[in-house]
Amino acid sequence: MSPTCDVVVLLSGTGSNLQALIDSVHTGDSPVRIAAVISNRADAYGLQRAKDAGIATRFLDHTAFEGREAFDQGLIELIDTFQPKLVVLAGFMRILSAGFVRHYQGRLLNIHPSLLPKYKGLHTHQRALEAGDTEHGCSVHFVTEELDGGPLVVQAVIPVELHDSPQSLAQRVHVQEHRIYPMAVRWFAEGRLTLGDQGALLDGQLLAASGYLIRT
Ligand code: GAR
Repeated sequence: MSPTCDVVVLLSGTGSNLQALIDSVHTGDSPVRIAAVISNRADAYGLQRAKDAGIATRFLDHTAFEGREAFDQGLIELIDTFQPKLVVLAGFMRILSAGFVRHYQGRLLNIHPSLLPKYKGLHTHQRALEAGDTEHGCSVHFVTEELDGGPLVVQAVIPVELHDSPQSLAQRVHVQEHRIYPMAVRWFAEGRLTLGDQGALLDGQLLAASGYLIRT
């Protein structure tokens, strides 16, 4: 079995992706250990989920800092007290400074509710519907300085149905997020997933530009 991989999770909201990660760690022989959950929002339900699972939590108020760089520096200092091998963004709704991203180069993952590079930013489900897309989904990627950019690790693709609303689509995409994020985190923890000069590598092989593709 691989040595333990300490992970710090950052979130701003509900934390259903954190819950999926907690559930995946608590069942079976996962090398992943969630060392802490940090939020920039005191009322994030994700913090409660972490407490319920006996995981350390921290709140770092971005409004108490003078600007993005200062907050991100404070965040780095807080994260690094836990000495994580991996930092996982799970609905952390902040744009990260270049310095932050560089500090965690190759060990910072994000999940986004679209088939990147389509629909970076917000309202992804509505935008996919408005564009008349027949397929939609979610992506896990290594974080680089480009917002919602960075080499793709895995994407789950689902069909858009005739009567889908942004809500119904979001619900089905969420189910896939909860599937692919724990999978990607485990790959990383097992030493199977790395970031190379050309992109994301799985078992030493360069992944396709779309990452590992899962169709449902
Ligand atoms: C998820 O849908 C995630 O993909 C999205 O925030 C949601 C958090 O949900 N992230 C982004 O949009 C990042 N650009 P959760 O709090 O229930 O995990």
